[in-house]
Amino acid sequence: MPSEPKTPPMLQMKGITKRFPGVLANDRVDFHVHAGEVHTLLGENGAGKSTLMKILYGLYRQDEGEILLHGKPVELISPAHAISHGIGMIHQHFMLVPTLTVAENVALGLKSKRGFLTDLKTVSEKIMELSETFGLHVHPYDYIWQLSVGERQRVEIIKALYRDATILILDEPTAVLTPSEVEDVFAIFRRLADDGRGLVFISHKLQEVLDLSDQITVLRHGRVTGDTTPAESDRHDLAQMMVGREVKLAPDKAPVQTGSSLLVIKDLFVRGDRGTHAVKGVDLEVKAGEILGIAGISGNGQPELAEAIAGLRTPDAGSIQINGRETTSFTPDQIRQAGLSYVPEERMKDGVVGQFDVKENMILLNHGEPPYCKNGFLNFKHIRKHSEELVKEYTVKTPSIDTTTKNLSGGNIQKLIMARELSAEPKVLLASQPTRGVDIGAAEYIHEQIAGQRERGTASVVISEDLDEVMALSDRIAVMFEGKIMGIVKQENATRSSIGLMMTGEKAPDS
Ligand SMILES: Nc1ncnc2c1ncn2[C@@H]1O[C@H](COP(=O)(O)OP(=O)(O)OP(=O)(O)O)[C@@H](O)[C@H]1O
Ligand SMILES: [Mg+2]
Repeated sequence: MPSEPKTPPMLQMKGITKRFPGVLANDRVDFHVHAGEVHTLLGENGAGKSTLMKILYGLYRQDEGEILLHGKPVELISPAHAISHGIGMIHQHFMLVPTLTVAENVALGLKSKRGFLTDLKTVSEKIMELSETFGLHVHPYDYIWQLSVGERQRVEIIKALYRDATILILDEPTAVLTPSEVEDVFAIFRRLADDGRGLVFISHKLQEVLDLSDQITVLRHGRVTGDTTPAESDRHDLAQMMVGREVKLAPDKAPVQTGSSLLVIKDLFVRGDRGTHAVKGVDLEVKAGEILGIAGISGNGQPELAEAIAGLRTPDAGSIQINGRETTSFTPDQIRQAGLSYVPEERMKDGVVGQFDVKENMILLNHGEPPYCKNGFLNFKHIRKHSEELVKEYTVKTPSIDTTTKNLSGGNIQKLIMARELSAEPKVLLASQPTRGVDIGAAEYIHEQIAGQRERGTASVVISEDLDEVMALSDRIAVMFEGKIMGIVKQENATRSSIGLMMTGEKAPDS
């Protein structure tokens, strides 16, 4: 934390109000950032964090209120204009061209003084300099497609720094990172702040917020409900401020008698996109009433395993049984009918159709079946009623069931998918990263729903990179490393360190 007295804020947002049809997204928000500070914006899904930052970045115009940079009022009318005022935004969905190099990506859109090629040399030199100064470890001549998610993010940071960003907006930068990548990028953020920049950080992970922030502003329903610091607040206080009530950070799980094995996987081999085996001889068995957690660092075969179970990827060898039926070579539709519900990792890509409205996504997978469809005609009355019930039951925050799904906040899209998948009353529930990007109130709800499946006799598999989530939810924990299961531990015998070691390739002590 900076020890010298604070200079006047580099950024002041005063009385910002923004309305969308049916939603007051920002309600007279005051928000300041000082030089040298990491200022966190905390709030539930739909609280208005991204909206406030999109206003700052010139993507939206506020209906009311003003923005001052270094004490002077500004009108930010476009991202290009915001950039010229020293504002940079690291988007969660990276805006990089995979077939170009790092330097070419950074150079894109710069006003060229000479030719693109002569510029590239200058650009590369400056990239190396910035990379050195802030410990970014980015090489100008690497192609983007060769880089990991964490490296791509660092390229986005370089891009903003190259354009002399002094205020950096980081909207959920850690949602896509592994725990060790988070540590690395936090060191970088700290250095950027110590160098006199102002950082706006958005995250749903309370421990991260406490570790990184100098200041924390909490938003609820578009309004500021608190300003605090890590010294003054703990995880429970922050949760309370965000949600307005006490939040359970782990679900209650009643003891349950397990039944027969509803998911049986034997010696499964699955190829990844690169053509090599991503899943190498996996055996798993999950019983009715049981939750099996699969922990592991991303890129160790988890998505390929999930896609094979769901029928989106054909295994090379081995077998998968769901509820006693061999489903290895079934289509995704047939697998659903055999009793699988699937909550995919990439919710915008595989979970919903963004352009469809809420009710259409609620029946996305069974629109061809009664009671939604009779004699080839959709039964709109039934569809409306069913969607309205689910929106209510699962507290999906949306102006109506006719709202275009992509306008919902991330956590609410996830609740929509959970509602659809659980209302199918599955035999086997497969959920990948079920609470990634989801606020703690919604995460609590989703965890309760998954835990509640045990009493219904569902066999659940939860794949997650969030170790706390796996430890809190699972009855047994399997750890995946390089396509293999390193071991399976009962929840009561699991410790963070033993699971963490297995995540890096150590065998289980004795499981
Ligand atoms: N372009 C848009 N059109 C209509 N409504 C929108 C639009 N963008 C955001 N909203 C609505 O404004 C509210 C605030 O959304 P915002 O994306 O700012 O939330 P958030 O705090 O970033 O949530 P999350 O943590 O889920 O990312 C939500 O109710 C959302 O549905
Ligand atoms: Mg957001």
